[in-house]
Amino acid sequence: MTDLVPNPTPVSSQNIFEKHFSNTKSLFVDREAISPHFIPEQLPFRETQIHEISESLSATLSGKKASNIFLYGKTGTGKTSVTRHVLTQLLEFAKGKNLPVAGLYINCRNHSRKYRVLSKIVEDLYPEERFFGFSSGFVYDKLVDWVSKNKAQLVVVLDEIDKTKDLDELVYSLTRANDEVTGGGITLIGISNNLFFRERLDPRTKSSLVEKEMVFPPYNAEELRAILNDRVKRAFAPDSVEDSAVNLAAAFAANESGDARTAVMLLFRAGELAEQKGLEKVTDDEVKRAKKKVEEEIITSMVSTLPKHQQILLFSLAELSLNKKPQAKLTGQPSAENVLFSGEIYDEYCSMAKKLKEPPVSSRWYREYISELEMFGLVSTTASGQGFRGNSRIVKLGFEPRKIRDQLEKELLG
Ligand SMILES: Nc1ncnc2c1ncn2[C@@H]1O[C@H](COP(=O)(O)OP(=O)(O)OP(=O)(O)O)[C@@H](O)[C@H]1O
Ligand SMILES: [Mg+2]
Repeated sequence: MTDLVPNPTPVSSQNIFEKHFSNTKSLFVDREAISPHFIPEQLPFRETQIHEISESLSATLSGKKASNIFLYGKTGTGKTSVTRHVLTQLLEFAKGKNLPVAGLYINCRNHSRKYRVLSKIVEDLYPEERFFGFSSGFVYDKLVDWVSKNKAQLVVVLDEIDKTKDLDELVYSLTRANDEVTGGGITLIGISNNLFFRERLDPRTKSSLVEKEMVFPPYNAEELRAILNDRVKRAFAPDSVEDSAVNLAAAFAANESGDARTAVMLLFRAGELAEQKGLEKVTDDEVKRAKKKVEEEIITSMVSTLPKHQQILLFSLAELSLNKKPQAKLTGQPSAENVLFSGEIYDEYCSMAKKLKEPPVSSRWYREYISELEMFGLVSTTASGQGFRGNSRIVKLGFEPRKIRDQLEKELLG
């Protein structure tokens, strides 16, 4: 009988799969549990927020519309996890008691127009029907009909609500629907990590959307350590992560932003690195190496979701940082850092916007955008201080200009 696979001629004493095989013992027992998409049933240090949101939403269980809530706080502070957790619990409870409460979670990053949001809502409410191509008015009527017919309390979570392009119209539509339904009601929960967004809301939109508000503060190192220890227990095999590695990941994340996503990602990547090296334990070294990787991943995702004009602004900043000669102080000493002045950045931004056929925003908005980029940690600013001409602000990119330029070149210029 002939072999299915021809007899191999040995070329070396060690099979090439040997090294892969010896490394296949996984340090993870449940990778999912340390992924940033995972929502644990327990969300420590968020008891107050869970309590307040559930208390507010409990009105829906007795057939009343609850107050609309606006949740805000920096990235990775648990806004999405907490809200999804509370919504799931609410729906489970209502189902058990046979109460007409429904709930939907929508991420406005994926549904950034009123029409898309309304279509998504009715597609979820009428799973058998298709609404593609129907007018906005038709879709809106279907929503009002569904709520009225079922006399249901519908809770709509609009996550990353700052990504909505026509927010005023969306909020207006959803609040007006409450006046048109003949039974039931619609409660909104808006979520944003943009701390400036709330200030900028149109007063009417603000009074509709922000009937209650809640802030999610950053986690400190101690809290992050507890959160990580919990996740490590589920995700990794026993004794496969050194305590000091967990502490280091918590300290890095607390230092950067108090962001649990960064903390979780650091240990996840560190675990992968340790596995690739065939180590038995995740140590500080892997966390240090993971830090660079995770930072890059976070910046890439942050930069790609910025609004267009902030991308143009960041692109201009990166270009200037790369092309400008080091600034000399009046003392004649070149400064150590390649600093940029607010005025020159605005000029560069305007000419870049024109090149991209986008009308530049006013200098007032430009200053707001710089503050927003600073809030996201993408730039840092200081008053020009002594030694530099004029009384301008100095702006510095928070990350390697070349990386930012390369990414934005692709995003903006295609
Ligand atoms: N209290 C907590 N306990 C355990 N894990 C948490 C806690 N808070 C956040 N996390 C974890 O951190 C990650 C990010 O959390 P989440 O997505 O809720 O943040 P967010 O505030 O919505 O951030 P963003 O503004 O960027 O959307 C998730 O992996 C989540 O599981
Ligand atoms: Mg979120």
